[in-house]
Amino acid sequence: MSSLKSAKHLLMFRDWSSHEINGVIEKAIEIKNDPEQYRLSLKDKSLAMVFQKTSTRTRVSFEVAMTQLGGHGVYLDWRTTNFMLADIRDETQYLSRNVDCIMARLLRNADLTAMAEASKVPVINGCDEKYHPCQAISDLMTMKEKKGLLKGLKLVYIGVHNNVCNSLIEGCTKTGVRITTVTPLINEPAIDKELVEKAKQTGLHETTLDVKEAVKDADFVYTDTWIDMEFFLDSKFKEKKEQRIKLMKPYQINSELLKESNALIMHDMPIHRGYEISAKVIEGPNSIIYEQSENRLHSAKGILLKLLGKT
Ligand code: CP
Repeated sequence: MSSLKSAKHLLMFRDWSSHEINGVIEKAIEIKNDPEQYRLSLKDKSLAMVFQKTSTRTRVSFEVAMTQLGGHGVYLDWRTTNFMLADIRDETQYLSRNVDCIMARLLRNADLTAMAEASKVPVINGCDEKYHPCQAISDLMTMKEKKGLLKGLKLVYIGVHNNVCNSLIEGCTKTGVRITTVTPLINEPAIDKELVEKAKQTGLHETTLDVKEAVKDADFVYTDTWIDMEFFLDSKFKEKKEQRIKLMKPYQINSELLKESNALIMHDMPIHRGYEISAKVIEGPNSIIYEQSENRLHSAKGILLKLLGKT
């Protein structure tokens, strides 16, 4: 087990410097290009992966990353563990005495913070209601791969202001990327006024509702689901879902919107085809969505090596 006294976590980017974020991105690209060199980097190390919500990419990328780095990922479904019944701090105290790192996808950021405070080992936020830093690292890695640098690029995020949007704003402004958000709706649980204010002070973040103008000179256009995954199929959410779709429909990413744009198209997935983005754009020549999702694996490796002191 790790003997870290005060572990470095990845809960959001507030405590991460630009240098650290760029370092993980560069390492992820290096690992992707030469995976063999890192085959035993985490030999005999274990990662606990705690999931209170559904996931495809976050679970697969971290589990495969651990295997390919010579270590082991232990999947824990919240509902079949005693996290369900006990105080999160006690369960975390135990867990962090048996594994070298914890990655958790929890419903509430407050619980993730409690987990990090109780943990002796690094805790990684696998997406809560406020932030999704692992996704943002993968996104920035993909952008750097495509353009060779990050500084000076322009990303336009169109959709609901949510956890993914928060981490993109923080990640972009810390790495010199200009980010314009077109978000007619804010997911209330995701509100972080301090993060947005800080980002605006860098001069790299602006907001607008003029979606056509925003995409004209964009290098990347990015969207995400309008409705959080846990609510999409929930009948109790039906009315709210219909209201949202009506409000958001003019902001769909489709060929008409992109008529005068050469931007590369991004989406963190899962996709709701025909809602936030048209099928034609998903499958079009400018879409880098599947490469972006593949990079979750390489960036997970970069994050794990950084937090386990192997860089
Ligand atoms: N983008 C993302 O986090 O995917 P999953 O929800 O499938 O993990």
